Amino acid sequence: MKIIVDRTRCTGHAMCFAQAPELFPLDEEGFSIADGKEVPPGEEKRAQMGVEACPERAIRLSTT
Ligand code: F3S
Repeated sequence: MKIIVDRTRCTGHAMCFAQAPELFPLDEEGFSIADGKEVPPGEEKRAQMGVEACPERAIRLSTT
């Protein structure tokens, strides 16, 4: 499972980071750099919580 971030939608709310900082790292300006990151086994639920926390719907999970 992979994290996909639409950087055109990310406005830096950091709610994803608040849910799971190691899964949803931010750049120095507070924008997500989680795009393409693999979700480690057992972290799927936290990844999903991060997805749902984003008010801009900028994050999704991919299983391909
Ligand atoms: Fe960006 Fe959404 Fe996270 S706006 S910093 S992807 S909560």
